[in-house]
Amino acid sequence: MSTVAQELRRRIETRTARVGVVGLGYVGLPLAVELATAGFETVGLDLDPRKIAAINAGESYIPDVPTSDVHSLVASGKLRATTDYRTVADLDTVNICVPTPLRKTKDPDMSFVVSAVEAIAEHLHPGMLVILESTTYPGTTEELVQPLLERTGLVAGVDFFLAFSPERVDPGNATFQTRNVPKVVGGTTPECGALAGALYATAIETIVPVSSPRVAEMVKLLENTFRAVNIGLVNELALMCRDLHINVWEVIDAAKTKPFGFMPFYPGPGLGGHCIPIDPFYLSWKARQFGFESRFIELAGHINGGMPRYVVDRVGEALNSVAKPIKGSKVHLFGMAYKSDVTDYRESPAIDVADLLERRGAVVTYSDHFVPSMPAEHGHKPRTEVPFDKALADGFDIAVITTAHKTFDYDTLVAKSPLILDTRNALKGRPGSHIFRL
Ligand SMILES: NC(=O)c1ccc[n+]([C@@H]2O[C@H](COP(=O)([O-])OP(=O)(O)OC[C@H]3O[C@@H](n4cnc5c(N)ncnc54)[C@H](O)[C@@H]3O)[C@@H](O)[C@H]2O)c1
Repeated sequence: MSTVAQELRRRIETRTARVGVVGLGYVGLPLAVELATAGFETVGLDLDPRKIAAINAGESYIPDVPTSDVHSLVASGKLRATTDYRTVADLDTVNICVPTPLRKTKDPDMSFVVSAVEAIAEHLHPGMLVILESTTYPGTTEELVQPLLERTGLVAGVDFFLAFSPERVDPGNATFQTRNVPKVVGGTTPECGALAGALYATAIETIVPVSSPRVAEMVKLLENTFRAVNIGLVNELALMCRDLHINVWEVIDAAKTKPFGFMPFYPGPGLGGHCIPIDPFYLSWKARQFGFESRFIELAGHINGGMPRYVVDRVGEALNSVAKPIKGSKVHLFGMAYKSDVTDYRESPAIDVADLLERRGAVVTYSDHFVPSMPAEHGHKPRTEVPFDKALADGFDIAVITTAHKTFDYDTLVAKSPLILDTRNALKGRPGSHIFRL
């Protein structure tokens, strides 16, 4: 091992390394908190001054990170946040956790990664470890990040160390959090991988080394493509079961009693969140550059992307059963977050369902105390929630359960709604001729 590598390893093992996390969102803040808890002096970097102010005031804005943790780490001087990239000059390690969205054309938008890496490059110094965590196409670390950092004249694997390690956080999952989800790590050289593994081992229980960054990048895309394709399969099965007069959830519940060779996935109003609807397209985009057509990804995208329209059709059928048109009917959505018990509404299918219903003339409102309001963004209009009790008191023509939040009072919802379309099986086992299922 080189002398610079030995020195960095010593600093990591003695917790004297100064560590940084760039991008303090759903991925970056939990990581920064784990590193600070492991004993490192940790600096979080973000462009959003509200996030910086919240952290420095000892407050968390991510539901999975308790404010008490942030408060005590900030009070003890282990954690601080800044918008100033000059702080990178004092750091030994940097983990990059910035967004990797898609452009409208479904091509990767690497602008956040590029601007973060360029800003880090300005302060890159010998002996530093840089780890990319943002989900991305295979090759990003070596083809995009490494050349940007090497413009400084410093060489990866010799002067500084570079690795990729995908984040697997599952927001709202109380059992599996940053600390106990195994961490896959691939370095541009074996030494880079070993140093990145050593850093994570201070805060995460299990490290899974792989031979290169591109393997680590592909691991993440396999995991998320696996979910997208299997959800596409059960969504197609749900459409089929409807025609066959079979309850698809009953089928899945029975199938999952098989102790091997089956894993349950559930149908719903469509994909949401920052990962499953997006990441597979990073892979198909990269594959296309090699003339490879990823048909499973495209097909799953087609089926999953069609689910909001199917939900609207089912709303129409339910209203039809009481001789009402969609146009002019009051449709109230229960749930705007993309999955139960989280505040994240990015790519949420409920937004598409609302837009499509309005296009057909419905009057759409929603309840979701996790998402009290939504600004106008990405071509969608702003919305503000109607609290659950008020919505039921005001009345509507049909309720659509778009997110199965545990906190909804389903007994009252069933008792007070004239019609219900349940897209999540939240009303499993409840009888009622006014209840329609996906
Ligand atoms: N949210 C998840 O469940 C999840 C799970 C696994 C992986 N990921 C991946 O992790 C990455 C981050 O996702 P997230 O959900 O944490 O995103 P996020 O939007 O919650 O957080 C990203 C943060 O980066 C900041 N940022 C943007 N550009 C910056 C820059 N140049 N410098 C500093 N800060 C900058 C933003 O202000 C924001 O606070 C993405 O690639 C995503 O695909 C997300």
